[in-house]
Amino acid sequence: MLLSGRIPEHVAIIMDGNGRWAEMRGLPRIEGHKRGAERTREVIEAAMEVGVGTLTLYAFSLENWQRPDDEVSMLMKLLEFYLRKEFDELIGRGVIFKSIGETWRLPATIRGLLKEAGEKSSGNKGMQLVLALSYGGRNEIIRAVRKAIALGADPESISEQYFSSLLDTAGIPSPDLIVRSSGEKRISNFLLWQAAYSELYFTDALWPDFTREEFFLALHDYQMRERRFGTVHARVER
Ligand code: FPP
Repeated sequence: MLLSGRIPEHVAIIMDGNGRWAEMRGLPRIEGHKRGAERTREVIEAAMEVGVGTLTLYAFSLENWQRPDDEVSMLMKLLEFYLRKEFDELIGRGVIFKSIGETWRLPATIRGLLKEAGEKSSGNKGMQLVLALSYGGRNEIIRAVRKAIALGADPESISEQYFSSLLDTAGIPSPDLIVRSSGEKRISNFLLWQAAYSELYFTDALWPDFTREEFFLALHDYQMRERRFGTVHARVER
């Protein structure tokens, strides 16, 4: 497997297919989420191992609030369980925790854990792990517009750079590579502004089957691509 050369600075992942994985096996959907969470851990490890600078995980979308109450509450419990279980170890290994989205809608326990992880890890120097929770791209853009208006910004002075600074992802580089599992070929309201020049990678693997090898396949695919940013040939080197 070719993994020398360009490692994307920022990889963002739409972790999709947990429900289908479970349903195909006649299992409750939550079993798919549990298995998916194990793969999430594995992929975080793999990303750290190869030197990815920022890993963003789409763990819960704004649309996901519309799922049946029991699935939402089980997903929240699972998230809480994993945050409690993994935070300290990952922070000890240098990970910087961030979250994006309407996180104030999350249960207080999870909000508390995210705040604690963010504070404890703010001085770290390792991989940035960005959890997109209660996140929607259009919603993020609208909130940024509201901030600009509330700040009394002069319309003429609103540049792309200024607007980026009002987004939840302020200070986080745009994703070089966006991965989606489960065969769906859509962005689904994920990082709409930030995805302008991202390479997209789709795989049929359902998230509970998305092993470190699958992650490396995605990186390998990325490494083979040419990136032009709307201009002429320019291989991006790191
Ligand atoms: C999509 O599968 C996945 C989710 C809505 C939740 C993702 C959550 C995890 C992987 C577990 C916890 C996360 C962390 C960060 C520890 P789906 O239910 O939409 O699958 P389907 O499209 O097959 O129904």
